[in-house]
Amino acid sequence: MDFQHRAESPFSIGNISKLNGTKPLYPTRCVHTISQEDENSVLSLAASRQYLFSGSQSSKIHVWDLQTFTLVATLEGHRGSVLGLSISKDQKWLFSCSGDGTIRVWDTGTLKCTYSIVSCHDVGDIFSIVYSEKSNTLFFGSQNTSIQWYSFDDPQTRGSTTGVPVLPITPRNSQKLKFFEGPGMLECEITDNFDEDVIKCVVREKNVHLNAHDGYVYCLLYSTEVPNIDGEVIISGSGDGDVKIWIIIDGTLKYLQTLVGNSDKGVLSLALSEDGYLFCGVQGGDVQIWDLETYQMIRSVMAHSDDVLAVALKGPGLVSASADGTTKIWSQGFEFRESLDEHSGAVLALTTTGNYLITGSSDHSIKFWDLPSTVSSQEPFRRNSIVKETPSNDTFLYVLEKWVAMRTVGGNPKYMEECRRGARFLKNVLQQLGAVSRMIPGECGRNPLVYGKFTGKTSPDPSKKTPTVLIYGHYDVISAEDEKQEWNSDPFKLTGKNGYLYGRGTSDNKGPILSCIFAVNELLNEGLLDVNVIFLIEGEEESGSVGFFEGVNKHKELFADVDMILLSNSYWLGEDVPCLTYGLRGVIHASVTVSNPRADMHSGVEGGAISEPLIDLIHVLGKIVDNDKKILIPGFYDNVRPVTDTEERLYDPIIKWMQTSKESQSSTRAQHSYLASPTLSGAPKRSEKDNNTSLTKEPLALDAEKLKYDLMARWRYPTFTVHKIDVSINNPTIIPRSATAIVSMRVVPDQSIAEICEQFKNHVRNAFEDNVSENNISIDIQSASEYWLGNPQSEYFKAVENAIEEEWNVKPLYIREGGSIPAVRWLEKFCNAPAVHLPMGQASDQAHLHNERIRLRNIHAGRRIVKRLLQTLPVLADREKY
Ligand code: BES
Ligand code: MN
Repeated sequence: MDFQHRAESPFSIGNISKLNGTKPLYPTRCVHTISQEDENSVLSLAASRQYLFSGSQSSKIHVWDLQTFTLVATLEGHRGSVLGLSISKDQKWLFSCSGDGTIRVWDTGTLKCTYSIVSCHDVGDIFSIVYSEKSNTLFFGSQNTSIQWYSFDDPQTRGSTTGVPVLPITPRNSQKLKFFEGPGMLECEITDNFDEDVIKCVVREKNVHLNAHDGYVYCLLYSTEVPNIDGEVIISGSGDGDVKIWIIIDGTLKYLQTLVGNSDKGVLSLALSEDGYLFCGVQGGDVQIWDLETYQMIRSVMAHSDDVLAVALKGPGLVSASADGTTKIWSQGFEFRESLDEHSGAVLALTTTGNYLITGSSDHSIKFWDLPSTVSSQEPFRRNSIVKETPSNDTFLYVLEKWVAMRTVGGNPKYMEECRRGARFLKNVLQQLGAVSRMIPGECGRNPLVYGKFTGKTSPDPSKKTPTVLIYGHYDVISAEDEKQEWNSDPFKLTGKNGYLYGRGTSDNKGPILSCIFAVNELLNEGLLDVNVIFLIEGEEESGSVGFFEGVNKHKELFADVDMILLSNSYWLGEDVPCLTYGLRGVIHASVTVSNPRADMHSGVEGGAISEPLIDLIHVLGKIVDNDKKILIPGFYDNVRPVTDTEERLYDPIIKWMQTSKESQSSTRAQHSYLASPTLSGAPKRSEKDNNTSLTKEPLALDAEKLKYDLMARWRYPTFTVHKIDVSINNPTIIPRSATAIVSMRVVPDQSIAEICEQFKNHVRNAFEDNVSENNISIDIQSASEYWLGNPQSEYFKAVENAIEEEWNVKPLYIREGGSIPAVRWLEKFCNAPAVHLPMGQASDQAHLHNERIRLRNIHAGRRIVKRLLQTLPVLADREKY
């Protein structure tokens, strides 16, 4: 009764991709890439709800967190490539098989190895492993053409183990164990004494089908749903080109059927659909489809141009991964849908979780693909469906990706429409997440503001009013045009890599804003929103918030009764310690132009006879700041607040951290602090010895005083910067008729913007008048932003501190920032409410620079912190009013 079903009959329909040339409505997107530094291929994958396990050529198994894409643990024990991985249904056990000829069983809770299983035959590589929950048995296929199995209900151990029971505990953790010590197995020597706690198991002779196939057994599949077969089935695919069907009866594997394929097309991978179609990925690139009702091959499709190493079902369709480097997605009727081409090597492994399709490759990377859920809508983009009908499992990532793709570059008319699109998008997102939202017009020719209000529950106690929080942020971003070469990815395509999200605006400020919006949305959905939350997101922050005050002021009524202002637009001091920001410097942007009343001139013809505008300008600039970074504007430092003992004490915990934390010493900004340490007239002078310490010498000793002055120089002392000089013509034979310097000054408590502007103008004019020149000078103050100094002792800061501590289990460092955000101090006065500043990003986020990024871990943590904070506010608001 050995029906042999031949493979010649099926009609090969060639490359089916021609049949369907239309692009999918929502293409599958790579949402994250983990690229491993160890240069080993990723050979196998398995996922639980929490983790992804990846088996490496290096013999290690890596465990990745599926939310943050960070490495959780490395499982060591195998001494050869990890060729196969699988997980028990209850997700308690991970099974791995290896080129070292062994199997290991890992506890997914403790991430420790519990068993190692060997055969007493020389099996060679073990390619594939499956576990039957029902029979509590592991089945594996190997290079020596055998299929073998190990039953945890009929255990056989080898040698002795210390500290653990000699008998295996069943992975199912239920059955009573039968004691059995069979003959013959003790002659196998125990060589691995490094894993003493691991229970060593041996496969019984009776549990071996030595010549299950005529070729390597590459793949096994376990199912209880094979048509017309009652009970448990194992399907094996082999290098001999055949597929065999086996049934599990009384703890043994009984041969049932062969599906005869082509001997030159070894079967490398298997997947079984619910309706009984078996998909086989074979050598050379075909995918064969067998109907298990009739044991007929109904199709053979040239799916790929090289070996099909993995196949998996995805909803009603199929996914195939190949040595040709592509992963292809097919519909139920096996119509080609999409090809995912982002791997640069063979795609060796494939798995799916609730949220992702995951591929592993010889390019050492693992990619996570968003599985678009089936979207009914036929319209490619519906304005009102961004969030509600998101074709993604991770709405946050989906929204951020869309938003980052909108080039909301500020300060450039070229991007005006794009900025408006970005603003409208945000308005719609707010609306769909539960806010009442609208636009507030900005100044003529400037970007609009986006307003959204989430209304919290009212307290049953009528004497208690619902507190209101104003969350401020900005959607405008810095241009990335001049640094395209330096980016490792498209700045406007959100790119997930090794736990980070890359893209312009990910950190400054789109990522943190969305994190806050989603925090409020979650509270709302959970019925826990007991505060009103107003979002005010502007589009001109990077240009000095021009028009912001007028715009907001015109809509006073929208900002009644604000109790607290929250923003998240700065960075930690390092990489691993959460921070809380309580101060920002102000900034004055100005331009200084020197021009002659005539025209550009030939330097050979006129040179020597006239005063050159650019030279005049350089002289003037040279008189603003000396070689020691000291600013020479008379009176400039007069109102700089003197350092008090109390203030100095605030630096102590930071210095302590800097001196003890390795990470702080390697962080970019701690290094920058050496570069940015001026000798200031207002600042305590450093010793002569310190001043001689140049960057080229030994790394500077972490002298507490020096570290403190470096931080103070960045946070609490003023600066003068020349950003650039533009000339009327750029030609090495011409004397430009005009030259303009763009400069800025960071200002600090208690400098007054008006006074500094006045002093600056006077000084520049005086400096210019020292020149004997027929040229003219003009000074233009372009924008000004006040400094902000919060009260770190306030209850609001304490509330944020507690929320941070709950998330990170450490107290945050209280820091200040040298950067500026014009709106903060103004909003405090406007709303008569204090601001708190919760930085989400890390020091290495590269805001305004190439490869701007934010860590996913921080985005998620930020969202939880904001949730906790908002939940504690009703209590606080009862006690304090600013
Ligand atoms: N997020 C920054 C402010 C900032 C800078 C915080 C550095 C912490 C460290 C903000 O988006 C920004 O870039 N501000 C500008 C403001 C200016 C254009 C008025 C700045 O600081 O230069
Ligand atoms: Mn910025």
